[in-house]
Amino acid sequence: LLGSLDVAWTLDSTNSELLRQPLPARGAAVLLAERQTGGRGRRGRDWASPLATNLYLSVALGFDGGLARLGGLSLVAGVCVAEAVAALGVPARLKWPNDLVVEGSDGLQKLGGLLIEGGGEHAGPVRAVIGIGINVAMPAAAGAAIGQAWTDLRRLGVATPVRNTLAAGVISRLLPALDAFAREGLAPFLPRYNTFDALRDMAVDIHDGGRVTTGIALGIAADGALRVRTDAGERGLHAGEVSLRRR
Ligand code: BTN
Repeated sequence: LLGSLDVAWTLDSTNSELLRQPLPARGAAVLLAERQTGGRGRRGRDWASPLATNLYLSVALGFDGGLARLGGLSLVAGVCVAEAVAALGVPARLKWPNDLVVEGSDGLQKLGGLLIEGGGEHAGPVRAVIGIGINVAMPAAAGAAIGQAWTDLRRLGVATPVRNTLAAGVISRLLPALDAFAREGLAPFLPRYNTFDALRDMAVDIHDGGRVTTGIALGIAADGALRVRTDAGERGLHAGEVSLRRR
């Protein structure tokens, strides 16, 4: 399970650092930072990472089965993150593929996100790095630069400092889950994912490159694809950015 566990004061990005380091001989490498100077989000976005306020955590592990399995891996990690946040009394949900969200008065607000990066062959062993960012007590100045609706645990009513509890909650769920995923795949996690699915039965647009798919989200398929009922029948989407449509 655990190969190494380190906490850094400041780094460019915990994901970048684990991509540079060799993997531990066995088990996963877990790395946290108090601050990131070049925190990265999906699709080349910056991830606001001010000092000692939020959670910035990455896990690196070797993984058999090729790059195709990384999608499932990210859903499994998302379930662990949502469960750790739920344990603090916050009803967060998952917005496929990689967002942790809560329902605000004006739509979904982002509480955290996952950035999965991998290297290796299409088949065979890969190195997977799972980066997790959760907003805990975002300073207003750093929050002002975020270009989408966001929130943090403090604004959701979690008054006590919870970063250590949250880190322990994520790590203690994630390590056994990664083991189970390597052995059994995504199937055992689908019921757990469903309890957190923010998109289920919603009208959605999924943007992928220049393509837009429109339909009703039907949940997650066994291979991690988002199932969507479109006018032309059901489709399984493996990548994209989802926006909710008012019906
Ligand atoms: C997203 O929703 O766009 C993904 C955000 C991922 C942020 C985390 S913070 C720890 C790790 N290091 C990074 O540079 N990014 C991830």
